[in-house]
Amino acid sequence: MTIYLNGAFMPIEEARISVLDRGFIFGDGVYEVIPVYSRRPFRLAEHLQRLQHSLDGIKLKNPHSEREWTAILSELIERNAQDGRNQDQYLYLHITRGVAKRDHAFPNPPVPPTVFLLSNPLTTPPAELLQSGIACITVADNRWLRCDIKAIALLPNVLLRQAAVEAGCAEAILIRDDAFLTEGAASNIFVVKNGKLLAPPKDNLMLPGITYDVILELAAANGIPYKVRRVTKAEVLGADELLLTSSTKEVLPITQLDGKPVGNGKPGAMFAKLHPLYQTFKR
Ligand code: PDD
Repeated sequence: MTIYLNGAFMPIEEARISVLDRGFIFGDGVYEVIPVYSRRPFRLAEHLQRLQHSLDGIKLKNPHSEREWTAILSELIERNAQDGRNQDQYLYLHITRGVAKRDHAFPNPPVPPTVFLLSNPLTTPPAELLQSGIACITVADNRWLRCDIKAIALLPNVLLRQAAVEAGCAEAILIRDDAFLTEGAASNIFVVKNGKLLAPPKDNLMLPGITYDVILELAAANGIPYKVRRVTKAEVLGADELLLTSSTKEVLPITQLDGKPVGNGKPGAMFAKLHPLYQTFKR
């Protein structure tokens, strides 16, 4: 496996990072996860825009232009696709504030950022999972108030996901102030009620998902009724269908919530419409 670190491509075994890296010490950095279908990065411009938003959010200068990113990512894709098998990939892009003596404040003068890129094979959800759906739990969203930044400091998300796993579930659905839906621990969540798709607004309390945008665009283009607005906890608990989206999971039906069936406990009509639309759109 070939990775990219600070300007060079190398086997992952040769990659070295200082223990003083601010990503390691403080979680001081941001990241992106970009799916690649048949060697083409999906929604690259949107991912790079969100990366810029995250970098702005932590006051870190973008080390590369869009053109440079595109060239680096293309080379990484080609190097990891050479054996012809690993055509669908997902890219992990990680930037930290670099290596400096431990001090919470930013290094002054600034030091070069650490830029790390990895390609992994992308395994999208298997047919059995699409037919059965996944089980989730609801948990209190106890994260900070800048969830729109795709920060590498993911301890809250790690603990929330682990709570789901310990409950025998695939994902935690996060409820803010015991009142309204934000997102999943590593995904966005949609509610379906009476044939209408309900999506929480892209504010500071959730990550503006690239897949989330695709789903809303597909809904708009295909005459599927939808509304972007606050979605209450009661609406989550009383949903006809619940859908999960992310770059690696695409769109998944949630068929159990807190140990009870969602709707009739089977993937519903909205999922049956959106999943094939997404499959066609991504290629
Ligand atoms: N996570 N919300 C959170 C908190 C996420 O971590 C993610 C994605 C999403 C969905 O965003 P997108 O559709 O752009 O992938 C929403 C990635 C896949 C991860 O951390 O691995």
